[in-house]
Amino acid sequence: MIRFCLNGNWVEETQIDPNWTVLRYLRTKTNQLAAKEGCAGGDCGACSILVGTPQPSGMQYMAINACISLLGSLDGKYVITVEGLKNQDQLHPVQQAMVDHHGSQCGFCTPGIVASLAALYHNQNGQAVSEHDIHVALSGNLCRCTGYRPIIDAAKAMHNYPAPSLQAAVMKNAVQQFDPQHNSGAEPALQNDGRTLYIPENEVQLCQLLSQHNDAVLWAGGTDLGLEITQQFKQFTTLISLHKLASLTEVSETENEIRVGAMVTYSNALSILSAHFPAFAQLLDRIGSRQIRNLGTIGGNVANGSPIGDTPPVLFALNTKLQLASAGGVRVIGIEDFFKGYKHTDLQAGEYLQAIIIPKLSVSQSLHVFKVSKRKEDDISAVLMAAVIEHDRQTIKDARIACGGMAATPLRALKTEHALIGKPLTLHSFEQAAAQISHDYSPIQDVRASVAYRLNVASNLVIKTGIELIAGGLSS
Ligand code: FES
Ligand code: FES
Repeated sequence: MIRFCLNGNWVEETQIDPNWTVLRYLRTKTNQLAAKEGCAGGDCGACSILVGTPQPSGMQYMAINACISLLGSLDGKYVITVEGLKNQDQLHPVQQAMVDHHGSQCGFCTPGIVASLAALYHNQNGQAVSEHDIHVALSGNLCRCTGYRPIIDAAKAMHNYPAPSLQAAVMKNAVQQFDPQHNSGAEPALQNDGRTLYIPENEVQLCQLLSQHNDAVLWAGGTDLGLEITQQFKQFTTLISLHKLASLTEVSETENEIRVGAMVTYSNALSILSAHFPAFAQLLDRIGSRQIRNLGTIGGNVANGSPIGDTPPVLFALNTKLQLASAGGVRVIGIEDFFKGYKHTDLQAGEYLQAIIIPKLSVSQSLHVFKVSKRKEDDISAVLMAAVIEHDRQTIKDARIACGGMAATPLRALKTEHALIGKPLTLHSFEQAAAQISHDYSPIQDVRASVAYRLNVASNLVIKTGIELIAGGLSS
């Protein structure tokens, strides 16, 4: 059974197909039609809803894309749709501001925009929001007809309206008590027509489930797997949702390294990565939209084995290790040994990615990250390069450079690195080494870029690394 609070009322489900998305459930089972299906791929935001998780500081709301979220991932959560935002006849401040500032025309995108702004409203605790906050909150909501100026005006004004009634579901949730131990994670949470979803409560249960179900597919944030359901019409027979495994959401650090649990979302990784790797944190801000970053996990980005995941090249450059666990124990491998081929990883039967262990940079190392995509935001990389350069201000002592989008897996540029190591720390050294990129990679042509474009861009990014390092790092 799954159990979640939908607009203030507890709902229990047992026999829904585990492959159902939240959006399908809302629109077909509950007749809540505000959230729309625009792209079914996490791009447009028309399906956005609010999901709350109780925290010691109060209910923490976030906007998510209902179109690619698994219904089972709502188990234990507090869900607010646009239908549930208002209280009787009193519109939520975001809704009233949108009305008063003419923030809607055809209305297709409007419920998603209201959900994104309501998440911003409730997470700001009544504090004024900056224009930057508003832009980030709306970065995953496409409006084709209103234009954003009236919507941004509404967002700026939303705190000028009376706060929502304490009777409104979005406020009542803050004081609801809920026992999350209503399931045994070893039992099916949803079952229908031969398809099953399990939601383990701890890693012991996860190991047991993995040893019992060889065919099980692990569901982390689902921002990639969700598309297999909605766009490739795949149906998974056995799914295991990892969203209740608190041990996989822990972040810790020692003097030399940072350990990031595999289920840490991009949003939650931001603060720790900003402190140690600002260039990595800036990249996280460009992954998908706010909604995607709220769902997607660092571990999922690695474990799905994609050659165009944004974090693996950075983790390659940082010489990251992966901690893999199973009923048989734990092993630690270098991230380069994890990627075996296109979407093929070293994960063995019964094994899962437990944590990502990132060495801290020394004072003589610097990290450089460049993402090249057609749109700056909410887009997939054509080429992503990350480089860690170690130097003594005179000579390049070491270099680790890796690219995504240039091969069937993320891949180091070993010849380029070799051409840099031992050379003077000058722009000329980077220009010379950049010529090696075409010997390191044989990329393919696809919808995002041609072969020539990819090679040219990657080569230029080597030079850009030198420019960034020499103009920035050495002048400080
Ligand atoms: Fe476009 Fe969900 S329908 S993001
Ligand atoms: Fe029409 Fe935004 S109001 S798409």
